[in-house]
Amino acid sequence: MHIKQTVVLITGGGSGIGAATARHLASLGALVALIDCNSDAVNSVANEIHGLGLVADVTDEEQVAQAIETIQSEWGGLRVLINCAGIAPAKRILGKAGVMPLSDFQHVLQVNVIGTFNVLRLAAMAIATAEPLDSDGNRGVIINTASIAAYEGQIGQAAYSASKAAIVGLTLPAARELANVGIRVMTIAPGLMKTPLLQAFPAEVQFSLAQSVNFPKRLGEPNEFARLAAHIIDNDYLNGEVIRLDGALRMREK
Ligand SMILES: NC(=O)c1ccc[n+]([C@@H]2O[C@H](COP(=O)([O-])OP(=O)(O)OC[C@H]3O[C@@H](n4cnc5c(N)ncnc54)[C@H](O)[C@@H]3O)[C@@H](O)[C@H]2O)c1
Repeated sequence: MHIKQTVVLITGGGSGIGAATARHLASLGALVALIDCNSDAVNSVANEIHGLGLVADVTDEEQVAQAIETIQSEWGGLRVLINCAGIAPAKRILGKAGVMPLSDFQHVLQVNVIGTFNVLRLAAMAIATAEPLDSDGNRGVIINTASIAAYEGQIGQAAYSASKAAIVGLTLPAARELANVGIRVMTIAPGLMKTPLLQAFPAEVQFSLAQSVNFPKRLGEPNEFARLAAHIIDNDYLNGEVIRLDGALRMREK
């Protein structure tokens, strides 16, 4: 699928991986709309790339439906969704302050799983109404963001890992189901990426995390995620798969 002039929606576009992907795809000529619950952040990135900034909570049916309607009326023909919005709080099941409140677990699943699925289903409905782009019947592509924590979650990551494993799990059935409307579904599982999420850690912690990566021995750049997302859009034969983007890192127990 071509990227130039293609209408792309990126959630979590106000920061980190989502913002880097927005900048990269805009530089390749895509029309980029962003959803984020942080209004200052989303408007600032949208202004920078001459995109469309939409303030919405990905878990809210009405807000996301409204945001997609705005994109369709401004530009029409949504073709690509990249789900980047997510949270990664760490908490032990049995911590120093007692047992993990059930609401903490529910909140992580609500944002990471329900939020991802909510935007996926509404974007799929919009993309399915567009005309096929070629003789294969391609209409568009959906890219989700999991994490290598889906496979090698560490202590304190029970909720986060469960949420990312759910995203891995929904990739194939969603690809199988949406095949009949010409929509591909892929997931990227990043390792340790240099975003505000990790940059908040002290320098020595960042250094030690980088040392745990096999090669190259550094944190991943958000732009490396962006370039993989661009390749997935471009390469029509990628479908129903999860790609690790992690410098061969296999996370240890803690
Ligand atoms: N940074 C990493 O090392 C890393 C590794 C693996 C996976 N990931 C995943 O990549 C994605 C992006 O992470 P990041 O590091 O760029 O984080 P980030 O915190 O820099 O960006 C996340 C963005 O999502 C937005 N967001 C959060 N909850 C939202 C909601 N309910 N509705 C709308 N927007 C919401 C935030 O406002 C923020 O702008 C997440 O899904 C994260 O789990 C990150």
